[in-house]
Amino acid sequence: MIRFPLEDKRTQNTLAMVAKTHKEDNLNIKPELYNLWLDSLCETVKKHDPEFTSGLEALWTEHMQEAINIILAEY
Ligand code: HEM
Repeated sequence: MIRFPLEDKRTQNTLAMVAKTHKEDNLNIKPELYNLWLDSLCETVKKHDPEFTSGLEALWTEHMQEAINIILAEY
């Protein structure tokens, strides 16, 4: 997710695997947990990246939300 764009086949394969493990009949990661997860990720980046800006946060949010949408489509 961090190293490759969403269009990359490796990202798509990994997301397909994560979607399978996180879905209802497996780990059952409830859809509402993803927003909390994304907030925590942004908080962490804010705390530890000295080059943090609100623009960077928006990029993280946008990129991860697209991945979350792909995972949740399989839930
Ligand atoms: C974009 C969102 C997420 C990504 C890319 C992601 C990715 C991963 C990956 C790569 C693994 C290890 C391999 C696997 O089991 O599939 C994993 C495991 C796991 N994830 Fe996520 N995850 C995401 C969101 C979440 C959320 C929101 C939760 C719950 C709050 C969660 C809970 C877990 C759990 C419980 C495991 C298993 C850990 C273990 O086996 O020790 N994940 N996740």
